[in-house]
Amino acid sequence: MVRGLVFDLDGVLVHTDELHYRAWKALAGRLGLPFTREQGDRCRGVSRMGSLEILLEGSNRSYTEREKLRMAEEKNDCYRAQLQELTPGDVPERTAETLRELRRRGYRLGLASSSKNAGVILTRTGLDALLDRVVDGNQITRSKPDPEVFLRAAQLLELPPEDCAGVDDALAGVESARTAGMIAAAIGPAALAGAGDWNLECLARLLDLCPPLEGGRDL
Ligand code: BG6
Ligand code: MG
Repeated sequence: MVRGLVFDLDGVLVHTDELHYRAWKALAGRLGLPFTREQGDRCRGVSRMGSLEILLEGSNRSYTEREKLRMAEEKNDCYRAQLQELTPGDVPERTAETLRELRRRGYRLGLASSSKNAGVILTRTGLDALLDRVVDGNQITRSKPDPEVFLRAAQLLELPPEDCAGVDDALAGVESARTAGMIAAAIGPAALAGAGDWNLECLARLLDLCPPLEGGRDL
C-alpha cells in the first residue's frame, strides 16, 4: 500500500527543466554547437557533468577535464542567475494544492532530486514547507538511474520503498524509482513514452490514485 510519495523536482514540481534547457542552449551557442530539445530531454534527471557529455556529442574535438569543469560552471552560473527570479508563483497552484491534499490524506512527502541547486529552488518557491524530507544532488554519490536518491528518501521518510511511489519526468528517474522498489510514476515526457507503472497526465491525477489513509499523518 502506498503511504509515501517521493517527487523529483525539476520538471515535476516546478518548470526549472526549461531553465536548464536555456542555460545549456546558451553554452552550446557560445561553443558553436547545436543543442536540440531531444538532447535537452535526454539531460532530464542526468547529472550536470553527464548532461555536458550529451551537449558535447555534437563536437568534433575533445576537451580536457579542466575545460569541461569550466563549461559546467559557466552553465551553472547562467542557470543560477535564472533561479534568482523564482517566486512561489512559479509553482502551479494545482501542484501546491495537490501536495497539501496528499498530506491531509496522510501521505508522507519526500523529494529525490539529482540537482545540487535544489535547496535554493525549494526556498525561493516555498516548496520546502510542503515536503517532509529532502534528498538532493549534494547527498548522493550516484546519479539517476541509480536508485540511491529514491532509496535515501524512503529511508528518511521511514518507509519501505515498496510503500512509496516515485514521481519523475525523466526516463532515468522512472528507472531509478523502479529499481528502488517503488511504484514508478511517470509524468511529462516519461509518461508520454509510457515508461511508468503509472503514467500521469498531470500531478493532480495522484489524487485519484491515492485515497485518504487511515490514521492520518504521524510524521
Ligand atoms: C536534474 C535535472 O534534476 O538535476 C538535470 O533534471 C540536471 O537536467 C540535474 O542536470 C543536475 O542539476 P544541477 O542543478 O545540480 O546542475
Ligand atoms: Mg526532472
